[in-house]
Amino acid sequence: MKISVIGAGYVGLVSGACLAEIGHEVVCTDSDASKLRTLEAGGMPIYEPGLESMVARARKERRLRFSANAAEVVTAGEAIFICVGTPPLANGDADLSAIDHVARIVATEAKSPKLVVEKSTVPARTGRELKRALSVYGRGAKVTFRVASNPEFLREGTAVGDFLHPDRIVVGVEDDTTERQLKDIYKPVLDRKFNCPIHNPSCPDGPPPAWVVTTISSAELIKHASNSFLALKISYANMVADLAERLGADIGEVTRAMGMDPRIGPSFLSPGLGFGGFCLPKDLQAFVFLAERSGVDFNLLREAEKINKRRIDQFYQKIREALWVVRDKPIGVLGLAFKPNTDDIRFAPAIDLVHRLIEEGARVRAYDPEAMEKARELLPHVEFAKSAYDAAKGSEALLIATEWDEFRRLDWDRVRREMARPLVLDGRNLLSPAEMKKLGFEYRSFGRPD
Ligand code: UGA
Repeated sequence: MKISVIGAGYVGLVSGACLAEIGHEVVCTDSDASKLRTLEAGGMPIYEPGLESMVARARKERRLRFSANAAEVVTAGEAIFICVGTPPLANGDADLSAIDHVARIVATEAKSPKLVVEKSTVPARTGRELKRALSVYGRGAKVTFRVASNPEFLREGTAVGDFLHPDRIVVGVEDDTTERQLKDIYKPVLDRKFNCPIHNPSCPDGPPPAWVVTTISSAELIKHASNSFLALKISYANMVADLAERLGADIGEVTRAMGMDPRIGPSFLSPGLGFGGFCLPKDLQAFVFLAERSGVDFNLLREAEKINKRRIDQFYQKIREALWVVRDKPIGVLGLAFKPNTDDIRFAPAIDLVHRLIEEGARVRAYDPEAMEKARELLPHVEFAKSAYDAAKGSEALLIATEWDEFRRLDWDRVRREMARPLVLDGRNLLSPAEMKKLGFEYRSFGRPD
């Protein structure tokens, strides 16, 4: 099928490349001309494992192209996937102006019937507004538009695998024709009939994804409710970690056993600096805003947000307890991205932490395997190290702010020798307290006996 993708951010680029990978003819546009230039020159505006080679292959085989001409892109596709950003407004609501802008272009430029698929994360009822906007802006035009919601559940760092091996594909539709068309688009994924370009545990024999057909509003709600629940789960684990710390229990032991209950599940129970990124924090806010506007008091989620904001204070408290005075002390920071396997630093707890350290007068030397280029502009007073060992050199404390596997696998004996004082504060419970103690470190983490 001929597919147009509007928006070449995380969602758009991954969706476009994966749709091309499973056999469609995809054209992708973005309002950011420099991003398109980078892509056309064979570069990647983001770091996402497996994506670069996939984009290169699809372009070579002419299944994927980029174009700055939005009108031409609208004309090209039978289905148009809207993947533009929906950033938070100051009041917490989602800014839907990019969606409105796309609706205007689609409505005025389309020359044949279009299926318009909303893939950006949006509050429930956006689909209804989108449909209305298409009809208002397209007044007088002879083409028809059908609207669907097809939320994505990609996680940064594993986005390609998540797209090609999802556990469910949710489609919010209003008629059978739309459902059929979407099923055609996803057929190779549903039948697992494509040559998977990445190594994935569920590949090649894992269970096929569930095909979930709902109303448009339900599909929109599923996405926001899922992300908010994940945020809630993390905040809950963080509170239990605080309690475990006071009671002398071990949060790792507690969550391991909790997670064995299939009703709870083992994931998203890791305590630490809390959740960041461009999805969970903003989706939580937008969901609270939507609830409020709909007359539903969802204070539970506000509390989850508050707990998350307090994580940095709590970590900072641990730093201060260990160091006494922070001013002028050399401190190494491992990790800047909001989570491992990405270079994304948007709403990253690590960045807030570094800002706090700088404000308090610490001398910060930071290292991240992928995110330093993006962080440089944001952190002008930070020295960037060449490696984790380099960040540790001469430091009086080493902080772990992102759970990169690379940090787990460091030669920690060597790290200790590099440091002026062997003090590690682990904001992600990445390492074993017993092993760190054996290696001669003073080691603090969350919810575990020191
Ligand atoms: C999240 C959702 O997990 C995806 O399903 C969704 O599609 C995506 O948002 C989106 O809306 O686009 P993502 O933001 O990539 O994906 O990252 P997560 O893996 O959810 O992690 C979010 C944050 O929570 C990270 O800062 C991570 O370090 C933190 N986290 C995660 C914890 O603090 N503890 C945990 O146990 C798990």
